Amino acid sequence: MSHELPIPSEDSESAAINPIDLVIRYHVRTKHHFNRYARSLGYLDWANQPDPFRRFEGAKLISLPLLMPDEEPVSPAYGAIYQPGAIPCQPVGPKTLSRFLEFALALSAWKRAGESEWALRSNPSSGNLHPTEGYLVLPKIEGLDLDAGLYHYAPKEHGLELRAKFLPDAVAKLLEPFPPHAFIMGFTSVHWREAWKYGERAFRYCNHDIGHAIGAARIAAATLGWNMVLLDAVEQHTTALLLGTNRSEDFIEAESEHPECLAVIWAAPESRGSEGREIPLFLDPVLVTNLTDCPWHGKANRLSLDHAVRWDIIDEAAEASWKTGADKMTIQVTASADRLPSAPLPLATSEVSAGQIIRQRRSAVSFDGKTSISADTFFRMMQLTMPDVALPPGGRSMPWDVWPFDPAIHLMLFVHRVDGLTPGLYFLARDPRKLEMIQSCLNHELNWTKAPQAPDELPLYWLLEGDAKRLAAQVSCHQEIAGDSAFSFGMLAEFEGLLRERGAWWYPRLFWESGLLGQVLYLEAEAAGVRATGIGCFFDDPVHEILAVRELSLQSLYHFTIGGPVEDRRLATLPPYFHLGRK
Ligand SMILES: Cc1cc2nc3c(=O)[nH]c(=O)nc-3n(C[C@H](O)[C@H](O)[C@H](O)COP(=O)(O)O)c2cc1C
Repeated sequence: MSHELPIPSEDSESAAINPIDLVIRYHVRTKHHFNRYARSLGYLDWANQPDPFRRFEGAKLISLPLLMPDEEPVSPAYGAIYQPGAIPCQPVGPKTLSRFLEFALALSAWKRAGESEWALRSNPSSGNLHPTEGYLVLPKIEGLDLDAGLYHYAPKEHGLELRAKFLPDAVAKLLEPFPPHAFIMGFTSVHWREAWKYGERAFRYCNHDIGHAIGAARIAAATLGWNMVLLDAVEQHTTALLLGTNRSEDFIEAESEHPECLAVIWAAPESRGSEGREIPLFLDPVLVTNLTDCPWHGKANRLSLDHAVRWDIIDEAAEASWKTGADKMTIQVTASADRLPSAPLPLATSEVSAGQIIRQRRSAVSFDGKTSISADTFFRMMQLTMPDVALPPGGRSMPWDVWPFDPAIHLMLFVHRVDGLTPGLYFLARDPRKLEMIQSCLNHELNWTKAPQAPDELPLYWLLEGDAKRLAAQVSCHQEIAGDSAFSFGMLAEFEGLLRERGAWWYPRLFWESGLLGQVLYLEAEAAGVRATGIGCFFDDPVHEILAVRELSLQSLYHFTIGGPVEDRRLATLPPYFHLGRK
């Protein structure tokens, strides 16, 4: 049972003035249906395939050292990243910055099939199109031979391009409210890269990818003992100014970058037992305006020869979800050594290094339809997706400490092959305080039984018994990876109520949260000896019908699947920087 929201007509006044209606309209219009996919070109315009590598021609490129896995800084054990206070904080320098960017956004391998070659990265991306661009705002740092300024990260070169040199004192002033040894990371999206293939639905995928990039960066920071928090009270115009995306003269219009978010990263441990530190989630817009009033360098390279189609609805959704208000929000950050561990269950493979897991992360292209995982592995994965909502956001365990909000995404799970768990449909309420609200949005006849054997604190419920393999594949655009795995799930976001309460700018954030969650499980799957794949293609309303979701109360935003992978042996794998002469 699903109800379609009446779509406001294009010229209706409410649609013109109400951004919330606009993002809802975007969402409804970009649903895939059994008999009709969301609008796209319908074929691949290979002649205009966008270049996945942005460069700023005319901007100075500073190469970062390409580090071998066993070079300093050596990565800690994967398990240590989830143990509060286990990783000593490393100073920011050329090598640590190189490692950070390697684990967050760098190339992780090249694949070759016949004449074709394509690069994979530490962060995954829908269709491997990589719409996300990464930036750093660096102060003058002792031991780092870089000017204070804005740098664009060029993953193919593993280098930083200097877009603008800022006055060191002005950057220091901007960073003053944060702990010492702080810098800023920013992300933008080139919508065109995803729209080229996926048409109107591309705005969703760009935002999933931002969530993955936030997760990849947070975990990369954790391997160095660094902290990271999303500065999500910054007005988007300020983000645009700081990242230079407002400089229309530097971009071809169709390939411009949409400013997404900023995060503060700092390399200073809080002393144990201290009360923590209050940090703002905003930047002073006047300081940013003055800082960026300086000479800029470089023009964005052309990504495609031509842009046959314009998807206006993407621009409309981007504009409607633009964050205008700057709130004076702050959070209290607790010393990591004082936090509680997120997952009391034993680690899957505590010996393997975090770097190894990050480098080997891949999306499975198919599963064997046989491999099962243990109930403990499954429960641990579920635990890692749970922020401890009893604590304030700045006191939660990694990586949820990066996310200054309570969770708004819950999981509807298709359990196929988990030893000791009856196959069927399960539900994880990631914020247990919202259980009643969630239940009221779903079929009232569902039987909410606590999943047998699950750790007490895990709000995991068993809804229906049965073989959901075919159903899972069917609703995931008939992709067998959703049924041949050990389990798959849909991420159900609190939707219309939350958007009406908080504003249209929350629409992208729901995708960011789902991407961040996906990133945690991509890595955890590798650590457990299995593999994951994000699934952006699913039939929206048929998914909702499974649980009889009431109207637009909850909406599935992203699907995900984990199981025993089958390698495609026709593909050769090459080292990530072989093109730069590195083995
Ligand atoms: C948001 C998102 C949606 C995705 N959707 C699908 C999908 O529907 N089907 C699929 O087989 N893979 C999907 N993928 C996996 C990508 O194709 C994969 O990440 C990309 O090819 C890069 O490969 P890698 O993850 O091994 O680095 C998705 C990935 C992301 C991040």
